[in-house]
Amino acid sequence: KVQPVIMAGGSGTRLWPLSRAGYPKQFLVLAGNESLFQQAARRLAELAAPGIAAAAPLIVGNEEHRFLLLDQLRETAIEPGAALLEPCGRNTAPAVTLAALAALEDGTDPVLVVTPADQTVTDPAAFKKAMQEAVRQAADGAIVILGITPERPETGYGYIRASADASGLAVAAFVEKPDLATAEAYLASGDYFWNAGMFVLRASVWIAALGQFRPDILETTRAAWAARTTDAKFIRPGKKEFAAVPAESIDYAVMERCPGSPFPLRMVPLAAGWNDLGAWEAVWLVADKDADGNAAFGDAIIKASKNTLVHATSRLVSVVGLEDVVVVETPDAVLVTDRARSQEVKAIVNQLHASQ
Ligand code: GDD
Ligand code: MG
Repeated sequence: KVQPVIMAGGSGTRLWPLSRAGYPKQFLVLAGNESLFQQAARRLAELAAPGIAAAAPLIVGNEEHRFLLLDQLRETAIEPGAALLEPCGRNTAPAVTLAALAALEDGTDPVLVVTPADQTVTDPAAFKKAMQEAVRQAADGAIVILGITPERPETGYGYIRASADASGLAVAAFVEKPDLATAEAYLASGDYFWNAGMFVLRASVWIAALGQFRPDILETTRAAWAARTTDAKFIRPGKKEFAAVPAESIDYAVMERCPGSPFPLRMVPLAAGWNDLGAWEAVWLVADKDADGNAAFGDAIIKASKNTLVHATSRLVSVVGLEDVVVVETPDAVLVTDRARSQEVKAIVNQLHASQ
């Protein structure tokens, strides 16, 4: 059995001011006609194939977004298996642990197909093929990650060095979010892939690996799971117990430590038009643009400009003579930034949090 898991509890701060705590980026329509979360749910729903029965997805998200989650799923007509609702964000390692514990409840040990909810894929057929290969390898006990051919020295991703062996690609090194000089060296070497942020492995393998590398996260998350309450499709881990779980990502908690350990990593290449919509730069990259490279969302007029993104939500926004600029308008906040520096928007959100 294959158990799709969607991690949808992030806050998406670099897409401020459109992405907000109460309505973060995964629920926004930033490319195509559906939200990023809906697109993720659809991709996973199509995974089933002869020999691969896909269960209804487990969604791990934040309590605050429970209605958004259910409403958006209802629009896609995809029934969730359950929505695991975190009372607070503890990053992705605890989120996947909740999903693994839920998946193990019925005594089976399914292959978890864990995916983020903040990405776009333009070739669903290639995605499905790569995922099915990953599922085959994970069924034999491997931890499988998906690798993207890198295009720039992006510092927001994990980097993978893989080498061919008899049965595919073995991962020799996994480095999460290297600094710029390191990312540049990796790119120049031609030996590295980007980590797509998707993980395919048996639920029991996740529990065993986490128990090996971060028993503190495993035990505290288990305690929160033991204290859970269930209300129809909503499952809530114990609030006090979950607050005591250390915050850490899958990548730092487990993936970086796997190479050379009893939990080796395998990699399946993914060439499916993958994009992580992490910052406005990425939204501009995947957007429909005019001949001068300008992308307009909503009621926007762009004149004599190049490679500019204007996103209007509540009134007309017009610009003249801009190059490589991002303008995002919302009822209560406006952002204007150099496109290449859109990663730094996070600093504004941090300042806003600090002054609250
Ligand atoms: N349930 C839950 N709880 N989900 C979360 C939480 C949480 O506390 N924090 C983040 N998520 C969700 C996000 O909504 C997103 O869909 C996914 O988990 C990944 O989290 P990000 O915070 O977006 O991670 P990242 O983009 O910095 O890095 C990851 O993805 C990259 C590719 O996009 C890593 O896996 C990198 O190695 C990878 O390259
Ligand atoms: Mg991300």
